[in-house]
Amino acid sequence: MNKKNIFSFSLVLIAAASFITILSLLTTTKSSQAEYGDITLNHYAEKAGMPPVIFPHWFHRIRFKCKVCHPNIFEMKQGANDVTMVKIVKGDFCGKCHNGRIAWPPIYCDRCHSGKSDVVIPKARGFVK
Ligand code: HEC
Ligand code: HEC
Ligand code: HEC
Repeated sequence: MNKKNIFSFSLVLIAAASFITILSLLTTTKSSQAEYGDITLNHYAEKAGMPPVIFPHWFHRIRFKCKVCHPNIFEMKQGANDVTMVKIVKGDFCGKCHNGRIAWPPIYCDRCHSGKSDVVIPKARGFVK
């Protein structure tokens, strides 16, 4: 091989190596249970017999400006908001949107109570999987 060929060959090697690194990074994040930026809310849920709530922050951040939620609906600090199911059903917190108008209503329990837990949602409570 002449100099030029060695040069382009090493470029290919570097490209392949970074591709593999990126690929493995992607698969390791995929295999972890929660997605990056997910927030767990579990002040009451597990104690009350429901799996913890996993709030997909990024999913919402892509769709809404921060100020839609902060600070009017949620204090911008993990665990700082006293969210309960009754408040949601009455239209506070998640219920500002999950009311059947802006987003689906809070009848699909397992969509929010999706945390890993020994607690299993009973069929009677809308577990649909
Ligand atoms: C749909 C509503 C919503 C939107 C939009 C939203 N957030 Fe949040 N955010 C939340 C909720 C819910 C929590 C968790 C609060 C809790 O745990 O009590 C939170 C928590 C946070 C926290 C604290 C997390 C931690 O680990 O301490 C930060 C920081 C934050 N948000 C920043 C932002 C920024 C910046 C944006 C815009 C790019 C944004 N949020 C958009 C709902 C939202
Ligand atoms: C500002 C409005 C708003 C607030 C507040 C809000 N959501 Fe949502 N949420 C949405 C919208 C819009 C969707 C998308 C609905 C659809 O796809 O039909 C959504 C979807 C979701 C999804 C499904 C994500 C997916 O991958 O499909 C979950 C889970 C969820 N929200 C949980 C919550 C929880 C828990 C809270 C309260 C901590 C909350 N949301 C507060 C607007 C909101
Ligand atoms: C839009 C998201 C969402 C949906 C849908 C939802 N929940 Fe919740 N739920 C929450 C959040 C957030 C909390 C507060 C989490 C915490 O800190 O423990 C909560 C808390 C609870 C609690 C703890 C006690 C209490 O009174 O707050 C119970 C029990 C509960 N939910 C039952 C249900 C049942 C049953 C359903 C379906 C009929 C359901 N949830 C659907 C978001 C949701």
